[in-house]
Amino acid sequence: MLEIQTLDKNIHNRNGFDCGDEALNKFLREQASSGSKRYLSRTKVLVDNQNLSEIVGFHTLSYSESSAPVESNLYKRYPYPLPILLLNRMAVDIKYQGQRIGEQLLLDVINQTARVELEGLAPAPVIGLLVDAKDGKERFYTKYGFSPVDTKDPLRLWLPISICIETYKAANS
Ligand SMILES: CC(C)(COP(=O)(O)OP(=O)(O)OC[C@H]1O[C@@H](n2cnc3c(N)ncnc32)[C@H](O)[C@@H]1OP(=O)(O)O)[C@@H](O)C(=O)NCCC(=O)NCCS
Repeated sequence: MLEIQTLDKNIHNRNGFDCGDEALNKFLREQASSGSKRYLSRTKVLVDNQNLSEIVGFHTLSYSESSAPVESNLYKRYPYPLPILLLNRMAVDIKYQGQRIGEQLLLDVINQTARVELEGLAPAPVIGLLVDAKDGKERFYTKYGFSPVDTKDPLRLWLPISICIETYKAANS
């Protein structure tokens, strides 16, 4: 059974991971673990509980700041940069792509964002979840409700906290 675990370089084999994007492979191999150690980001991996060393996919979260899109009805509430969770990196190993693993990772991130609010897991709230999509991959996010923060930058997408909470509740009702 697949489960999400915090990256542990003594358990999870970072060198065996290949998502087809060398920059992301290199990030996992060389930066993800030290990012956690320096309190900059947190990387979680998806693994089969019968084979913990093989990384099926991973995501990395940190904090950023954003306002709401000027043209959205949330702009009045969030008109200046406010804390937001940033989905820094996400990837699935080539062997497992196209099997809804990316979706599982993204829903895990959306659920974690909702739980920041619902379970008071952090001392202060965030206004949602932010991601810088790779060119051509916007649809992977927009189909879950993400939309552009700035019309001039169509790759910077956000999901307001209210939608994260709705998604979480729908999945857990
Ligand atoms: C992008 C990535 C994370 C998607 O993961 P995946 O496990 O292959 O995708 P899933 O099987 O969960 O697909 C879920 C949905 O997203 C869509 N999707 C998958 N990859 C997509 C892409 N590259 N662009 C647009 N939509 C995509 C699927 O068609 C599916 O939609 P559907 O419900 O309409 O069928 C994965 O292909 C990957 O790691 N790619 C290389 C690394 C990368 O580019 N990461 C950064 C993404 S910005």
